[in-house]
Amino acid sequence: MTATSANSSAQLLQGLRAIVGDKACMEAADDMQPFTTDYRKLYHGKALAVVLPATTQQVSEVMALCFRHGVPVVPQGGNTSLMGGAVPDAAGDAVVLNLRRMNQVQEIDVVNDTMTLSAGVTLQAARAAAQEAGRLFPLRIGSEGSCQIGGNLSTNAGGTAVLRYGNMRDLTLGIEAVLPDGRIYSSLRGLRKDNTGYDLKQLFIGSEGTLGIITAAVLKLMPLPGATAAAWIAVRDPHAAVELLTEAKRVAGQAVTAFELISGPALTLVLESMPQLSAPLPETHDWMVLIELTSGGDAEGLDAMLMGILEQGLERGLVTDAAIAASLADTRAFWQLREEISDAQTRTGGSIKCDISIPLSKIADFIAEASAQVLALAPDARMVIYGHMGDGNVHFNPLRPKDMAAAEFLAQNYARVSHAVDGLATRQNGSISAEHGIGVAKRDDLLECKSPVELELMWQIKRALDPGNLLNPGKVLPGAKGLV
Ligand code: MLT
Ligand code: ZN
Repeated sequence: MTATSANSSAQLLQGLRAIVGDKACMEAADDMQPFTTDYRKLYHGKALAVVLPATTQQVSEVMALCFRHGVPVVPQGGNTSLMGGAVPDAAGDAVVLNLRRMNQVQEIDVVNDTMTLSAGVTLQAARAAAQEAGRLFPLRIGSEGSCQIGGNLSTNAGGTAVLRYGNMRDLTLGIEAVLPDGRIYSSLRGLRKDNTGYDLKQLFIGSEGTLGIITAAVLKLMPLPGATAAAWIAVRDPHAAVELLTEAKRVAGQAVTAFELISGPALTLVLESMPQLSAPLPETHDWMVLIELTSGGDAEGLDAMLMGILEQGLERGLVTDAAIAASLADTRAFWQLREEISDAQTRTGGSIKCDISIPLSKIADFIAEASAQVLALAPDARMVIYGHMGDGNVHFNPLRPKDMAAAEFLAQNYARVSHAVDGLATRQNGSISAEHGIGVAKRDDLLECKSPVELELMWQIKRALDPGNLLNPGKVLPGAKGLV
């Protein structure tokens, strides 16, 4: 480090401390470590400092200061990205800006059915605040206790209720975001109709902090469901699951809130890693579905619909066994088994993460063909396949065989297996990232699945909003020759 750059760093750090306060500015590597390593412990970065601003004004001042110094900023919420999108790289020249102190529920408007939140509110706190006001905020993902609304927005989070309510884009009426030079963009108006030009908020949603830092949002609220019916169903195969979903939509329409596919190895993994949990069905099955129906009331009507779906499924040979939730506790137990699949993989050292979406009409064939290709490359891999089949989204996560070290399995197979699975999805007009985003993990894969025009437009937008490439650099946009 030259004397000039050391002076400049010292000035920057002094400026950051003046803005956020000494206690909210970390510079020691040990203190910064939880913010520079991702939650799966696959990406280990370094930072110049980690700052925890408490207000949008402070975020704006931090950004303006970093902009003047030409210092990159990595925005971070709950640090639950599966794609390495929320941690800095190893260069150590960036400031991590974590929004967890901005955790205010600013307003709940029950007449307008909206709530305005600061970006650092956890999803769990957002859902609890809505419930207290007699409303539902319907985004539902396993990491709700840690993930934050700002991160949910910047990754356009999806989860297990998209089938009924849509993803974060569909649930958002306005956002506030700080631009790389410190200017504040706001559309916190709570309007359901507003055709006054470009819908700028949608640029920031899903851009993974590469265009601006989302600091607040106005989100839609829904009526709280009064009745729930759920079942854990063994199905013949993924084709049968798709047919059962079609039948469920015919019988129950909008009431079908969730329809999750779960492979046998995915359930076995959870039961092995959490022996205190019990299997919903007496025998093991290759394929299962967790279905949930909800409605405003009329529990009996909902139960009858579920029975109707199951009877049809049995009659047509789609369903081989089923356990119906007899209580809310049963429903919760089913969901726990489903939601633990992700962490159970992390505990075994991590799997090959593919997050595919494909038209529903092709998803069963896709699963069969992708499985055959993976097993040809890694014959003993455990096929942990699960996810939001109702949205055409499947988490295709081959896992190491029990007798092989995770590092060895991942080193041998990650690149070739994900290349095969993603390539198949791309050739079938699917997406290589249905809901997890791109981050750094899938950045260069965009070169294989986006057209030159799409990549050029993405870079043009990036350059227009962040000409110095200071916001979350190295994430999302592949640096192809001629594009940077
Ligand atoms: C899930 O559906 O459980 C999440 O997207 C997390 C994951 O796939 O690991
Ligand atoms: Zn998911």
